[in-house]
Amino acid sequence: MRTLREIASLRETLDDSRRRGRRIALVPTMGNLHAGHLALVESARRHADVVVATIFVNPMQFGPNEDLDAYPRTLAEDQQKLEGAGCDLLFAPATATIYPRRLEAQTQIRVLGVSEGLCGGSRPGHFDGVATIVGMLFNLVQPQVACFGEKDYQQLAVIRRLVTDLHFPIEIVGVPIVRADDGLALSSRNGYLDPEQRAIAPRLYRTLEALRQALEAGEPVETTLAAGLARLDDAGFVPDYLELRAPDLGPITTATREARLLAAARLGPTRLIDNLTLTLPR
Ligand code: PAF
Repeated sequence: MRTLREIASLRETLDDSRRRGRRIALVPTMGNLHAGHLALVESARRHADVVVATIFVNPMQFGPNEDLDAYPRTLAEDQQKLEGAGCDLLFAPATATIYPRRLEAQTQIRVLGVSEGLCGGSRPGHFDGVATIVGMLFNLVQPQVACFGEKDYQQLAVIRRLVTDLHFPIEIVGVPIVRADDGLALSSRNGYLDPEQRAIAPRLYRTLEALRQALEAGEPVETTLAAGLARLDDAGFVPDYLELRAPDLGPITTATREARLLAAARLGPTRLIDNLTLTLPR
């Protein structure tokens, strides 16, 4: 696997692959890779001939009080993991390569509607940063397919809308959440948890599972979600949101059958997110 740091060499290498009729898949990441990322690479392998991963800790998607400086940077380990998973090319640019101007002076992409509420409510500007870097990577790599994890379910919805609205000829593949044995969704941010918090963390997923069963059995949505918030609170979380939405993140209606249950909650300074799909009774 080659690692490229410059835009010109990335373009040159991919032009060559395109000339040879190769189908290209993109797996954008911020590094500190775990089995969830490697599932994205495996999915990309099944969809294309050439898999391009990117590692870039994107400052535009971090708020002023968020963990940009603390975000783990583990390039050497990540290179080994990507190589083992069958990635062909890694693009790992410097910040100044991607953003040669001050961040505030950079052109941005804002995806309206689906970026608002949920994580967008508590992380203002976050999805503008995500949409901008993903749009830029789509332009640089020009893949036929790009893979994103369902753990960041709202991010996936934002990217699907971005591709539709800006007419990117790219197939977006959502890859199911990879969980630890105790149910905790894998995330680079799990590394921030101390042992006590790590023992509590799977209760986020267990709560979602309990709510899924209640909702699928026909319990009323409002009281079930209120009970879920109380349960998270009792476990030691500070819940940010717990919501039931349609799969496209629109509101549920009496006609909604497939629905998505989404939660974000803090454990100490660490913000965890999770979600699952469920089927509402008729
Ligand atoms: O999901 C992530 O790791 C990031 O938000 C992404 C999509 C790589 C954009 O920086």
